[in-house]
Amino acid sequence: MGIAYDPRERVFRLDTPHTTYLIGIVDAEGFLGQIYYGPRIPADPMRYLLRLEEPPYAPSREPGERVSFYDTFPFEYPAWGGGDFREPCLRAETAEGGRRCELFYQSHEIFAGKKPLEGLPAAFGGECTTLAIRCADPVLGLQVCLSYTVFEDVDVICRSARIENQGAAPLTLTAALSACLTLDGRDFDLITLPGAWAHEWRIDRRPVASGRQGAFSLRGISSHQFNPFLALAEHTATREQGLAYGMCFLYSGNFLAQAEPDACGKIRAVLGIHPEGFGWRLEPGEAFQTPEAALVCSEQGLGGMSRSFHDFFRRHLIRGQGKHRYSLVNSWEAAYFDFDHDRLLALGQKAAEAGIELLVVDDGWFGHREDETSSLGDWYVNEKKLPGGFRRLGEELSAIGVKLGVWMEPEMVSPDSDLYRAHPDYALQTPGWAPAQSRKQYVLDLTRREVRDCVYGQISAVLRSAPIVYLKWDMNRVLSDVFSSALPAGRQGEAAHRYTLGLYELQERLLSDFPDLLLENCCSGGGRFDAGMLYYSPQIWTSDNAEAIDRLTIQEGTALAYPFSSMGAHVAACPSHTNCRSTPFRTRGHVALAGCFGYELDLCKLTPAEFAAIPGQLAEYRELGPVFRDGDAYRLASYSENRSHDALLAVRKDRSLAVLCYVQVVSRAQRRSLRLPLAGLEPLRQYRDRRTGETRSGAGWMHGGVLLPVLEGDHQSLLVVLEGVDGAAEGG
Ligand code: DGJ
Repeated sequence: MGIAYDPRERVFRLDTPHTTYLIGIVDAEGFLGQIYYGPRIPADPMRYLLRLEEPPYAPSREPGERVSFYDTFPFEYPAWGGGDFREPCLRAETAEGGRRCELFYQSHEIFAGKKPLEGLPAAFGGECTTLAIRCADPVLGLQVCLSYTVFEDVDVICRSARIENQGAAPLTLTAALSACLTLDGRDFDLITLPGAWAHEWRIDRRPVASGRQGAFSLRGISSHQFNPFLALAEHTATREQGLAYGMCFLYSGNFLAQAEPDACGKIRAVLGIHPEGFGWRLEPGEAFQTPEAALVCSEQGLGGMSRSFHDFFRRHLIRGQGKHRYSLVNSWEAAYFDFDHDRLLALGQKAAEAGIELLVVDDGWFGHREDETSSLGDWYVNEKKLPGGFRRLGEELSAIGVKLGVWMEPEMVSPDSDLYRAHPDYALQTPGWAPAQSRKQYVLDLTRREVRDCVYGQISAVLRSAPIVYLKWDMNRVLSDVFSSALPAGRQGEAAHRYTLGLYELQERLLSDFPDLLLENCCSGGGRFDAGMLYYSPQIWTSDNAEAIDRLTIQEGTALAYPFSSMGAHVAACPSHTNCRSTPFRTRGHVALAGCFGYELDLCKLTPAEFAAIPGQLAEYRELGPVFRDGDAYRLASYSENRSHDALLAVRKDRSLAVLCYVQVVSRAQRRSLRLPLAGLEPLRQYRDRRTGETRSGAGWMHGGVLLPVLEGDHQSLLVVLEGVDGAAEGG
């Protein structure tokens, strides 16, 4: 495993446990071509895949067809202007307006480990090896360092590029993407995760058509509309079989994830910061670092791809993975803005009675906020509502064994706020225009240090004022008026990315000053559910739609790339505040069990039977939740596909325990049981079904399956727990 260079073949070989990635240097000029990415292969000579012996040939053999070569060759990091008309990774513009850029191999370095990326989320090591290939444009004096890291324990390759102006004149980068793949030889389907507020991440799968297609965001956040993720699976690939490639972006702002077949049928897939509106000026000596992209290839279909991403994120990206995930009750759907100290304490007392660990005071505790129209930016406690502030509430909660968490929306400012009255210029705004409001609020210009300092001073004062163990960092609008008064004319194309860097800097400061704080990100639910944010917060509020049946689809889509341990999942009020559907309390508990568990309702208004069910749900969360959050997930049936039922299986890493969450969404007229073959068990090990005591081998359960009884009515659910009878080992 690892990375090696074959000087005779001039080929770089990158191996993960089950995949191989080959890059070749071509001709004396040094074009860098992608030879192969796929299942692990022996050290065969594979350069033939570059098709250099076919027309239009390499320029050394056929200089008269240089442009055609450019438009055909599988460039490792394609640049714009020489004749490759597919989507490039790199575009650079000179002061005179010149737009041609070409990259040629110069040198390389292979080293153990991985360097962090300054100011950006980045995967971290363990056992890993990095390849840095330096290439250059000799005319522009641009040097590009392509970085690849392979890990010994996951089938993931991380890529990024550092672009440095080593010339004498300034340049502007108008595209600087992170990764490019060239795939052919199979019929591929493109899979993206489109969505909307309260309907995040429907799995959209369709054959790759001609033209450019994929996912993107220009909203300044990764967005509800598309997740920064793309997969290409061979047309015949299923959940557990066939070849699937995934590309995931470790970034939270504008992005482009795009597939594009060329005239010969090869698909170019690119991932990076969206070039639309992007322009990064590089003075001589300055450099730009792209965010990182994570690539996966799996022969175990989409399930295999997802499990590789889950392992990778849990082990190599999410720094807070090991933090305790409190069971919680959140005040939002319990009380919205209508609360005071006594109401929160009453909620806390109910939480204590039920065994819930944490009370989160959501929106409405600061400034004079009574609704959406005011006070964002004024992060001091409204003493009319909470006399004695968080210190008093925190101490009183602590006395009954409940911890305190708070909500903030640090990136925002209300027009009706002391902050805005004092510093109207702190809001992002385009000269000559009043900034556009959304949810009656403006976005703070996080590109500016003084704005970040002002926000940070307020956040840290709140966190220091009381025993606060959890912060929900919310963000409830997209960016408009992306213009920064800190940037000169000619550099406004940097504003959107600098905003994201400012956000990362703020969250980094928070983590370093409050290392024990559990941070949960949120963006009206999943508007910034991306791997960039997961570097800072181990969990993200998955969706404002916590209704159990809609959540099946939302959590399924999210889990295509992200682990269950990263999903905030709560038992919400009923009928649902989002879609008015009524579902049994038990089903709501089972669906939320897979994620970071909590209650999004008024505990004081539950029926006695519902309230009495909470300790059992919490016990399930403690015992079985870790199997979903730390184990291997297998999607066995999908409500989004069959519209009648849903089945998610999680198996502990040591295969000693498996938990099936089955939801009968629509009851069936057919009164016979449903046979569901399982997956992921050890074939020869014996497993006992806790419900029935039936014991059979893993192979028996996987091929014979479990018989699921008809449940009484719609929206009913069942947990099936299979335990290895030879003694269950601990841990996920
Ligand atoms: C949007 C979040 O997603 C909700 O959970 C809640 O915190 C509201 N914002 C509060 O304004």
